[in-house]
Amino acid sequence: MKLKTVFFVAVISTVFAVPSFSQQKENPQIEKKIKTLINQMTLEEKIGIIHASSSFTSGGVPRLGIPELVMSDGPHGVRPEHGRDWVLDKGVDDAGTYLPTGINLASTWNPKLGYQYGAVLGSEARYRGKDMILGPGVNIIRSPLNGRNFEYLSEDPFLASQMAVGYIKGVQNQGVSACVKHFAANNEEADRNTVDVRMSERALREIYLPAFKAAVKQGNVYAVMGSYNKFRGQFATHNDYLVNKILKGEWGFKGILLSDWGAVHNTKQALYNGTDLEMGTDLRLMNNSVSQSDASGKALSKSIYDQFFMADSALNLIKEGKVPIAVIDEKVTRILRLMFDIKMIGSNDRPVGVYNSPEHQQVALKVAEEGIVLLKNNQNLLPLNKSIKSIAVIGENAARENAMGGGSSQVKAKYEITPLQGLKNLLGTNTNITYARGYKIDKKQKADDELIAEAVKAAKNADVAIVYCGWTHGYDYNQWGDNAFDAEGVDKPNMNMPFEQDKLLTAVLAANPKTIIVLMGGGPVDMSKWINQAPAIIQGWYPGMEGGNALAKIIFGDVNPSGKLPMTFPKVLEDVPAHKLGEFHGTNGIVNYKDDIFVGYRYYETFNVKPQFAFGHGLSYTNFNYDDARIKAKGGNLEIKVKIKNTGKVDGAEVVQVYVKKPGTIKLPNEELKSFEKVFLKAGESKKIVLEIPKEDLRYYDEDKKAWILGAGKVNVMIGNASDDIKIKKEIEL
Ligand code: BGC
Repeated sequence: MKLKTVFFVAVISTVFAVPSFSQQKENPQIEKKIKTLINQMTLEEKIGIIHASSSFTSGGVPRLGIPELVMSDGPHGVRPEHGRDWVLDKGVDDAGTYLPTGINLASTWNPKLGYQYGAVLGSEARYRGKDMILGPGVNIIRSPLNGRNFEYLSEDPFLASQMAVGYIKGVQNQGVSACVKHFAANNEEADRNTVDVRMSERALREIYLPAFKAAVKQGNVYAVMGSYNKFRGQFATHNDYLVNKILKGEWGFKGILLSDWGAVHNTKQALYNGTDLEMGTDLRLMNNSVSQSDASGKALSKSIYDQFFMADSALNLIKEGKVPIAVIDEKVTRILRLMFDIKMIGSNDRPVGVYNSPEHQQVALKVAEEGIVLLKNNQNLLPLNKSIKSIAVIGENAARENAMGGGSSQVKAKYEITPLQGLKNLLGTNTNITYARGYKIDKKQKADDELIAEAVKAAKNADVAIVYCGWTHGYDYNQWGDNAFDAEGVDKPNMNMPFEQDKLLTAVLAANPKTIIVLMGGGPVDMSKWINQAPAIIQGWYPGMEGGNALAKIIFGDVNPSGKLPMTFPKVLEDVPAHKLGEFHGTNGIVNYKDDIFVGYRYYETFNVKPQFAFGHGLSYTNFNYDDARIKAKGGNLEIKVKIKNTGKVDGAEVVQVYVKKPGTIKLPNEELKSFEKVFLKAGESKKIVLEIPKEDLRYYDEDKKAWILGAGKVNVMIGNASDDIKIKKEIEL
């Protein structure tokens, strides 16, 4: 069988050529124009701009040609249209490109795809009249239980940074602002509105902030969303330390800090601590008990939005002389600067965007193909041969659509190829496909003996069985209560397979040893009950509108898998550092991140705990050889050269990962990812790759000195293709 590789489609690369971007800076001519506009604005108009005017807009000033700022979720598609009062619009053409979710994007380890992904979002957002996409979500995956991990990128700050920067540039090059979220330390959902997060300064600097910093300093992001939680006792959205001191002070951020929806709690703190725009979800509006218009449809003069913290109460503080107008002007300046940056005002050549183009759908397919991870493949059971006569396809996830699940990240997909449909598309009528549901997705969460018996029968009668199982988005609170998974506002109760799928898997594996398990969802499950019997396991994530096609191509070898895990898959929840060393959810409203910097593989590799599948792990249908590694110090930075050869019979891609152990006398992780590159190689081909690690990245944060320190001694450099599969180790003195 001839395998096609996962090279980019040439046409996509030319459509989305990566432009160069400057870092955060002011343009004197634009600053002058902003001043002129501000001088013409009344106090009421200024206040109107710094808070919501409807569910996804903030106020404009029509008489001065300043439009409302129109926002949309994000992060993996443009959200369906909401009326101004949170009611989903009916009869509008808002079914668009549904991209694989963030964790699938990160699994590609391909920042160029991050750019293309962002460009699709920006282009579709523009076409739909949006000015801002509320994404990417870059919160660190600290526990597998977090309900929004599927939207996020990684447990590792470097990987998250690299993927986020590409995404942001892609969005913003389309005349739309990205909005990196949720700043900061929003790593659990269940109590996100109230929880007070405590962590060391070192953990903050080394783990939880770098992706935001990269978004600002390398991605030049125009907007940052403050999160719901508190940080060291003060709400993050108006947290003096996070917003004034770090974001705007140290990092020199020139864009806007907007609140998450309903994250502002105090007018004075919001005014003084850096919140530029208050957005919100008003429950009365959601319940439809308050309207923005009277019976005849005329807008009411006083709206619910006037009651926001940054509306009438801010206005009164200014009028009473209790807060200087300069505080408001500074916020308005930032909002207008963003409008100039994305060419909403002051320009006639703003991109117009494209909707549902074949190129966009191709990007969805590429990301799925490169992000799906082959976890296990004993005796090369995969890829399957297309001449196979019969397949039993089992599991409700085989036939389930996911686009509208998960909460605010919902997307109305133009179409969504389910895994079952993908197999049918690829195989046509040559193969006999029998489908058995296997388990029920419902609140009872119990195994169904009849469905298991039906699945076992189908598996026995087929050459191969493929079970599509794992998580699903369960979002409807009324239906799911606290048992929802992979959804906003809730965390998973544990890592056990939902719906007692263990029973189904054990029975099917016994009935047909040639059973392939495809796990869907935003993270790992406890596989201990069946992993030893399972010859082949694929992590399918939420792979977007083309996900079914991508999965089928991988299963049958039309695509050689090249995805790598962006998070550790632990054996059991008890092994996860957040749970073992730290706290998840905490007590009395406070959560202490006692796991400190030992998040994800930093913990597993340092404390010798074996995970089920390590960070960076992902198999291919070919093999790669690492050779001829040379490391030298170049101007204080590290230069790493290594030769990679595809020694197998099929084309494929390898992700070369460089980990270091930093020099220093304090407790340091045994491994930290500092560079990587995805290399595409034809069968037999070899390539020399050159990677560089700036010396700044070899520093650790010293709590006492409150500074980044480059320790004395040798750096251990480890080159490999997973955090637990190091091929070459070298030491070097800087
Ligand atoms: C979410 C944000 C989202 C916003 C608007 C909030 O509840 O946390 O991620 O962008 O709603 O939908």
